[in-house]
Amino acid sequence: MAKILVADKIADEGIKILQDGGNNDVVYKPEITVEEMAEVAPDFEAIVVRSRAKVPANVLEKGKKLKVVGRAGVGVDNVDVPTATRLGIIVMNTPDGNTISAAEQAMSLLLAIARNTARADKTMKEGKWDKKALTGIELYGKTLGVVGLGRIGKAVAKRALAFEMRVICYDPGVSPDEIQKLGMANATLEEIIKESDFITIHTPLTEKTKGMIGEEQFKYMKKNCRIINCARGGIIDENALLQAINEGKIAGAALDVFPVEPLPEDSPLRKCEKLLLTPHLGASTVEAQEKVALQVAEQIVTYFKKGEIINAVNAPSIDPELLKVMRPYLDLAEDLGKFASSYADSRVVKINCLFSGSILDYPLKPITTAIVKGFLEPLTDFAVNYISAMNLAKERGVEVVESKSTLEYQYTNLITIETEMENGQTNKICGTLYTKEMPRIVILNDRYFNAVPSGNMLVIKNKDVPGTIGTVCTILGNHNVNIADLTWGRNKPLGDAMTIINTDHEITADIVKEIDAHENILSVKFIKV
Ligand code: NAD
Ligand code: MLT
Repeated sequence: MAKILVADKIADEGIKILQDGGNNDVVYKPEITVEEMAEVAPDFEAIVVRSRAKVPANVLEKGKKLKVVGRAGVGVDNVDVPTATRLGIIVMNTPDGNTISAAEQAMSLLLAIARNTARADKTMKEGKWDKKALTGIELYGKTLGVVGLGRIGKAVAKRALAFEMRVICYDPGVSPDEIQKLGMANATLEEIIKESDFITIHTPLTEKTKGMIGEEQFKYMKKNCRIINCARGGIIDENALLQAINEGKIAGAALDVFPVEPLPEDSPLRKCEKLLLTPHLGASTVEAQEKVALQVAEQIVTYFKKGEIINAVNAPSIDPELLKVMRPYLDLAEDLGKFASSYADSRVVKINCLFSGSILDYPLKPITTAIVKGFLEPLTDFAVNYISAMNLAKERGVEVVESKSTLEYQYTNLITIETEMENGQTNKICGTLYTKEMPRIVILNDRYFNAVPSGNMLVIKNKDVPGTIGTVCTILGNHNVNIADLTWGRNKPLGDAMTIINTDHEITADIVKEIDAHENILSVKFIKV
């Protein structure tokens, strides 16, 4: 049973799904403060938030059992994602649950600032009939500049085209070809600023987008431009915006989002007539709230039931069907990583992960992550999982390189791990899947094997003389250790040989010592995978 804290108001249906017919204990505290959350964090395995509740580093650090933070919505700026990643906590969002609602909000603000709707309503209620002062403009034939052509930007652009606007877009992440195919024109940010009658912002708030529309841009913005921000506060520099409006450089703006929310009561933005303000309503529709609540709840329940990670912002999300197919490769990769870690004699500074054959049909990043996860597990008591593995490797000074292999081996699929150690030595471990149920270590350095890569393993280097392996087996037998599998590899007759023995029982340090003492044994290592 997972204990889940719902720290923001979400639709009832979402709570029901989270309860999973009594399988989970759901605590609903939609008004919880961040201090209270830090206090109760140690009790919970999951926290669900919308945009009010913040999940900062101290909450994540206190939540020793925390596995997942679910954000019912898109932006995860209320969660300390880097800290969650370091601690191996998954952060999930619901990227498309509120796309339509946010796009419709942008459209409604676009229409409202074109026709002065809010001011008209206000003056009517003041008893006035200001028809002349409230003359607006048409959208038809005007240029709309869309900054950020992701899910919401695209939905807005599509709707603006239906109003017969000319739509120009700036998004370095979208190819000019795609923009053209959508019936719009590709533009630079400068062109957007110079040519647009309306500008609408749909990027995330990042180091690059913070203040991207500021004093400099307002200087050359088309006179009478109207600007809308339904994305995140701070992308438009609000002080520069206010100044541009007050100096008559632009006609007005509509803001749904603010750098500090709720917007302070005494904010000068509240006093500006030509500014239309809404209190972060982009996703505030019955439909969007239901969709994001159901989505986040379903994602969390799926994670606890099946371990499948959906819409994680800090881990590769794999389609559940693909994950099923990839699972044997991921398990093999993790086992080989553990083996490589335990087999190393000195600190590993670099892991080369090479892939060849049919494994190349799949995304390689999760398989590399599985190798690194396996590699780090024997070395740390820190939570190593698919989220934290790569970060932890970096923190420990281990370089990880992923590549497609050009090594000429006769296996239909092959994972090769080459480890480079501080003492200058290297190891190479290769594994393959003969079938889904038959993972095998097939190469260890210069030897070929056919070894099961899991459980208790003895890796022995011995003189290739008669009776040596018999003696090892006798020692194991004397200690009631049952041999499950045995495979050996040598590179020339009567030189030295290597043997990998899988056993059903653990092998104690004393047994290892006894084997090592034999005159024909060159080295022996116990590895538990
Ligand atoms: P998305 O990830 O689908 O799209 C974002 C787009 O911005 C991407 O295509 C990306 O390439 C582009 N981009 C990133 N940096 C850029 C830059 N420097 N210049 C130009 N383009 C850049 O996201 P989305 O779902 O469309 O959401 C967009 C924004 O809207 C997010 O900030 C989200 O938090 C916000 N949002 C607000 C509300 C609301 O209630 N007002 C509701 C939903 C989403
Ligand atoms: C989002 O990023 O999804 C939004 O800002 C909507 C919200 O949760 O209020």
